[in-house]
Amino acid sequence: MAFTDQGAGPVVVLLHGFPLNRAMWAEQVKALSASYRVIAPDLRGHGESPAPNGVYTMESMADDVVELLDELGINEPVALGGLSMGGYVTLALVLKYPERIRAVMLLDTRCTADAPQAAADREKFAQTVLDDGHPTAAVEAIVPKLFARATIEKNPGLVGMLEERMEKTPAAGVAGALRGMAIRPDQTGRLGEIKAPTLVIVGEHDAITPPDGARAMADALPASRYVLIPDAGHLTPCENPAAVNEALLAFLSGLNG
Ligand code: MLT
Repeated sequence: MAFTDQGAGPVVVLLHGFPLNRAMWAEQVKALSASYRVIAPDLRGHGESPAPNGVYTMESMADDVVELLDELGINEPVALGGLSMGGYVTLALVLKYPERIRAVMLLDTRCTADAPQAAADREKFAQTVLDDGHPTAAVEAIVPKLFARATIEKNPGLVGMLEERMEKTPAAGVAGALRGMAIRPDQTGRLGEIKAPTLVIVGEHDAITPPDGARAMADALPASRYVLIPDAGHLTPCENPAAVNEALLAFLSGLNG
């Protein structure tokens, strides 16, 4: 598993969204690594990590992350954050390995399962991407929904760079993640089990995991803080890094110990 490991201090782990890679956290790694040890892996099938054939369940990707922590000898509970698919993996990990977690950060994500049509669409895209041998069909479907209109108009360089990265994700990785997301369980009924302090972040223009769902998730979590990020769509850490970094640092510095 490829990963970034930067800084020293309490460990912060960041899990990227689909079909991206750890490079999406560049601004957060820069800002947080002054006070924390930031670990950002490429999840299975993404970035520089291997892309085996098969279905990548959120639980199997959570197991990969715990295996990485074990390999690095990190036994103390960590602050774990994830964006969108990374958030699904975060929830799977927190619920399976609560003893490994001291705090949770859920960015532009949700706790619900796919509706049947959404799951069927993912299967269609998975098959197309495998037939084509490249991820373009899935990337073209997701890109229009990823960014706030202002980001597209004012920051075409960022949009182009992220699109290029998504295009490099191997077809097997894209298909495996789509199929895994399609069968992820609804975690709504289990949110009450998450006793660790949790930060819920969402872009005000997020069209994929909109603010009302994020707000409801925050309300159902026992110890949560909710932050709405202005001037951002689904990719808040890239679209408005200053506001996201401020929210993450305020949350992390407020944790005990
Ligand atoms: C992501 O950003 O990881 C994806 O939009 C998640 C999803 O497709 O549900």
